[in-house]
Amino acid sequence: MVENLGDFRRDKYCGEISLEDVGREVRICGWVHRVRNHGGVIFIDLRDREGIVQVVVEEAKDPEVYEKADSIRPEWVIGVRGEVRRRPEGTENPKLKTGYVEVRAKEIRVFNTSEVPPFPVDEETHVSEETKLRYRYIDLRRESMKENLMFRHRFYQITRRFFEEEGFVEIETPFLTRSTPEGARDFIVPSRLHPGKFYALPQSPQLFKQILMIAGFDRYFQIARCFRDEDLRADRQPEFTQIDFEMSFVREEDVMEVAEKLVVRLFKDLLDIDLSRPFDRITYEEAVSRYGTDKPDRRFGLELVDLTDLFKESEFNVFRSAVASGGVVKAINLKGRNPSRKDIDDLTVFVRGLGAKGLAWIKLDQGKVTSPITKFLSQAEIEGVLRKMSAEEGDLILFSAGSWQEVHRILGALRTHLAEKYDLVNGSGWDVLWVVDFPLMEWDEEEGRFVSLHHPFTAPKEGDEEKLREALKVEDLEERKRIVHSVRARAYDLVINGEEVGGGSIRIHRRDIQDLVFRLLNISEEEAQEKFGFLLEALKFGAPPHGGFAFGLDRMVALMRGLDSIRDVIAFPKTQKGICMLTSAPDRVTPDQLREVHIKVVE
Ligand code: AMO
Ligand code: AMP
Repeated sequence: MVENLGDFRRDKYCGEISLEDVGREVRICGWVHRVRNHGGVIFIDLRDREGIVQVVVEEAKDPEVYEKADSIRPEWVIGVRGEVRRRPEGTENPKLKTGYVEVRAKEIRVFNTSEVPPFPVDEETHVSEETKLRYRYIDLRRESMKENLMFRHRFYQITRRFFEEEGFVEIETPFLTRSTPEGARDFIVPSRLHPGKFYALPQSPQLFKQILMIAGFDRYFQIARCFRDEDLRADRQPEFTQIDFEMSFVREEDVMEVAEKLVVRLFKDLLDIDLSRPFDRITYEEAVSRYGTDKPDRRFGLELVDLTDLFKESEFNVFRSAVASGGVVKAINLKGRNPSRKDIDDLTVFVRGLGAKGLAWIKLDQGKVTSPITKFLSQAEIEGVLRKMSAEEGDLILFSAGSWQEVHRILGALRTHLAEKYDLVNGSGWDVLWVVDFPLMEWDEEEGRFVSLHHPFTAPKEGDEEKLREALKVEDLEERKRIVHSVRARAYDLVINGEEVGGGSIRIHRRDIQDLVFRLLNISEEEAQEKFGFLLEALKFGAPPHGGFAFGLDRMVALMRGLDSIRDVIAFPKTQKGICMLTSAPDRVTPDQLREVHIKVVE
C-alpha cells in the first residue's frame, strides 16, 4: 500500500491553507498528527513544517478514500488531494492558523508507514531527555522544537543582513588548526600524514580574526562554530556557535556600538521589543561588590551590603578575624519572607556546598531579633546591622565573612539561589548591561601564576602599560600582585538577565606590549613562540589597532526564546556527558583507522 511520490506534486504547505483557498483544490503532504474516526467520518490532522491542517474523509461521499484513511496511523507520511472548504460553524478552532478551514480528501496516497513512535509528537511528552535526543528527528517534529530552530534560522538571517549593511566581510577560518587560547581544553585531531602530530579544533576564531585585521580585512564577521572540551552545563556545549566579529582602527565604543545595534535589531525583528541604546554600563568592581558576580541580574534586588567597618573590633570572632586578615563582612537582606528555621538550614547547606564555613543570620520576627550570633554582638552592632540593612518585620539578613573573593562568590551564588527559590524575578523585563573595566589578570592560587581574565591578547588600559613594566621589576610577590591587580583591561562583556551572552576587547597590536603580557603571565619566550609564534610574527608586519567581540549565539537564542537550556536551540546537541545520543558518538574506531593515524589506545 506504500506508494512512490510518482506524479503527486505538492502545491501548498499544510500550515498555509487559509480561508483564501476555500473552493480550491490543493495537494498537500505531511505526517499524520492525529486520526479520529467518528464512524462514517474520519478526521486526519496532517502536519508539515508550517503547521497542521484538518483533512476530512466522508464514507458516504468517498468510500474508497475512506477505506484507505481508516488504516492510517500517526506519523505515517501521506499526500492528500482535496478541496478546501470552510469549517461548519461551531467547529472552528481559532487556536490554529488553519482553524477555519478543512480539506475534503478526494485522494490519499500513503508514501510511508511508521512504527509507533517512542513518544507522541506533542508538547505534553514526559520522556527523558536522553530518549528525546536519541530520537531527535521525532522530537524535532514537536511544535516548540520546530519553532526554536525556525527562530534560530531567522536569527542567522537578520545577523547576516545586519553585518552586510554595516560593511562587514564574511570570512571562514579553519577548523583544523592549532590550539587557540580561550582557557578551555582543546579537542585534538591526529594527523595521518604527520605521525605523532595533531590539529586542535578552534576554541574560537580569535587568532585568525586578528590576523585578518593585519591582512587588511577591516570589519570581518563570521557565524563560527567553536569547540571547547569543558565540563558541560545547561548553558555550555562542547561545540557551540559564536557571532564573531573584529574591526580595525577602533576603540571600545565603536565595537560596543556595533554589538548593541545588532542586539537592538534582533530584539526588534524577532520579538518586537524595543531596547534602548546605549545599554547601561557597570564596572567589574561595582558588579562584584553589589551583586557578587561579574554577570549580574538586576531584575531583582538583594544587593550585597558592606558591613566590614561595623565589625572591626567585634567580640564575634568569626567577623573580627575576617576583617583582621584583610577580608570583608557583607550581608544580603531577604525581605519580608519570614522564612522558617528549616528554610534557613537549607540555605546554610547550600552555602556549605560552595565551601563556606557557615552562614550567620539575623531574622526579624514579631518585633524580635532572632539569631544564633546576637549573643556575640553588642547592641550597637546589632542596631548598626539593622539600620544598614534597612531591616523590617519578616526580613532575614544573611552574612558572609572572609576574603573579598570568597565573600562575593558565596553571596553572589546565594543571591541567585534566593531569587530562584523565592521567585524574585518580577515581570518579563530585559536587563541588558555591559560589564567593563575588568582586571587584566588575576592571581591563580593553584597554578601559582597570573592568568588572563579574558585572553592574553586583550590590551591593558592606555596608561596602565607602565604599571606592567613596573610590576615586572618588583621582586616581592605581594607587591607585584597589588600592582598587577590594579591594571584594567580594555575588555567588555555583555550580560542579559544575568547571563554572559558575549565578550570582547581591544587587542594588543604592539609586539612589545604583547611580550610584556606574556612575561607577566609567566609564558616563556619559547612557549610563546611555539604556541602563538605566527601571531607574534604577524604583529611585526604592520598590525593595525584593532578590537572585536563574540556573541554566544546559542545562549542568545535560548534567552530570547525563554529557554533554560541551549540544548533546546541546537538541532543535534550533546548530553551532559558529551554524548551524541543519536549517533552514539564518541565511539571506538577500527584498529586500521588507529594505525593510520599512528595511535595506540591505552585503556
Ligand atoms: P568568550 O570565550 O567569552 O570569548 O566566548 C564568547 C561567548 O561565547 C559563549 N560561549 C559558549 N556558549 C556555549 N557553550 C560554550 N561552551 C561556550 N563558551 C562560550 C558565551 C561567551 O560570552 N575570542 C573571544 C571573543 C573576543 O574576544 O572577540 C571569545 O571566544 O556566551
Ligand atoms: P561558629 O563560631 O563557627 O559556630 O559560627 C557561629 C555562626 O557564624 C554560625 O551561625 C555560623 O554558621 C556562622 N559562620 C561561621 N563562619 C562564617 C563565615 N565565614 N561567614 C558567615 N557566617 C559564618
